[in-house]
Amino acid sequence: MSLTTNWIEVCDKEDIDEEDVIRFDHGNRTFAVYRSADSDYYATDGYCTHEKFHLANGLVMGNIIECPKHNGRFDYTSGAAKRAPVCVDLKTYPVKVENDKIFIQID
Ligand code: FES
Repeated sequence: MSLTTNWIEVCDKEDIDEEDVIRFDHGNRTFAVYRSADSDYYATDGYCTHEKFHLANGLVMGNIIECPKHNGRFDYTSGAAKRAPVCVDLKTYPVKVENDKIFIQID
């Protein structure tokens, strides 16, 4: 079975501050791309799994993204739902940095 790799360029790595998140739209999809305090990068679906609300408008605290709508929380490194009202995990995507640019691999 062959796996297709679909790496999409997001931005320069310095375009995201430490412990912050940006919104990234591609086609008709939306993603959230995170930079941790240690400057590791992560990507998840852009919408909260509770309601269709952009997580990139939320607050990053350590490995947590807090949704701005009802304060549900996820671990953005694993996608795990961490605080009600969210109970469905977020989908995560592989991230790589090459030549100071961030890429995410979407299916
Ligand atoms: S929309 Fe995110 S917690 Fe409700």
